[in-house]
Amino acid sequence: MHVYLTRPLSDAVMEQARDSVPAELVVYPEEEFPPSRERLLSDVRGARGLISMVTDRIDREVLEAAGPQLEIVANVAVGFDNIDLDAAKEHGVVVTNTPGVLDEATADLAFALLLAVTRRLAEGDRFICSGEEWIWGPRSYVGLDVSADVKLGIVGLGRIGMAVARRARAFGMEILATGRRAFSEEAQELGVRPADLEEVIAEADVVSLHCPLTNENRHMIGRRQLDAMKPGSYLINTARGPLVDEEALADALEQGSLAGAGLDVHEFEPEVNPRLRQIENAVLLPHIGSAGDVTRDRMGGLAVRNVAEVLSGRAPVTPVR
Ligand code: GLV
Repeated sequence: MHVYLTRPLSDAVMEQARDSVPAELVVYPEEEFPPSRERLLSDVRGARGLISMVTDRIDREVLEAAGPQLEIVANVAVGFDNIDLDAAKEHGVVVTNTPGVLDEATADLAFALLLAVTRRLAEGDRFICSGEEWIWGPRSYVGLDVSADVKLGIVGLGRIGMAVARRARAFGMEILATGRRAFSEEAQELGVRPADLEEVIAEADVVSLHCPLTNENRHMIGRRQLDAMKPGSYLINTARGPLVDEEALADALEQGSLAGAGLDVHEFEPEVNPRLRQIENAVLLPHIGSAGDVTRDRMGGLAVRNVAEVLSGRAPVTPVR
């Protein structure tokens, strides 16, 4: 009975796993791609533990293929929309995630995207790399001055949203946010104004998404919300792709009602919307929000700890729910 990892993790995390997990480790060897569905279903057979990534769909079929000895699915991610929690509960399988260790890295990336899109960094880089002749111009590549009375709307003020708010505060931005924590003391200290989604959409110059994907909030930023956004505003998404209706977003960007979008996540990941790829003021990244060296080690380390604890008969460190 083994513990199956769907991707090799860093050397440090693999060493931690070998030292602490009381079972044989079986690691899918490819770094770049996850196991095929067929391979996953076959490799999990007989596993006591499964260390999964956001790219692995862990549903009833996988849990059944594993068998009744499966005790834990440890997702190396804070999000867990790739896991069927109801099926896991029915099968008595503990599900864990990696909250808390990736807040700063993800907030850094959200802010990097915010600056990249408002100050037109990707456009500028593409232009320079094109080799075209150029010279400084007073009206060239003028973007939004984020430090000049710009309002940031944070949708979902959780741990990551709060880390974004701290950065925005340092930049002198006005902040409004949805979510219970918008009423917290820390939010108040940061000058966050609590708001609902409609208000954020109507008032913010930059809207940044930081909520988990659930069965209820797919396309929470759809055509209606995009139409209601402030003309010339920007959308940043480092949460989950399906929160945004990408076809409606492409329309809004093409029509110029939105000034730009920065997306680290994509509606049909790993497919990238072909229209968005053609739009100059859409900055698109390959889901790298948590891809800091220390952060990735902490995420892997926490997943390994969860497995070690559960397989040793103890409580998981970070169970979901
Ligand atoms: C990454 O997307 C995560 O949920 O950690």
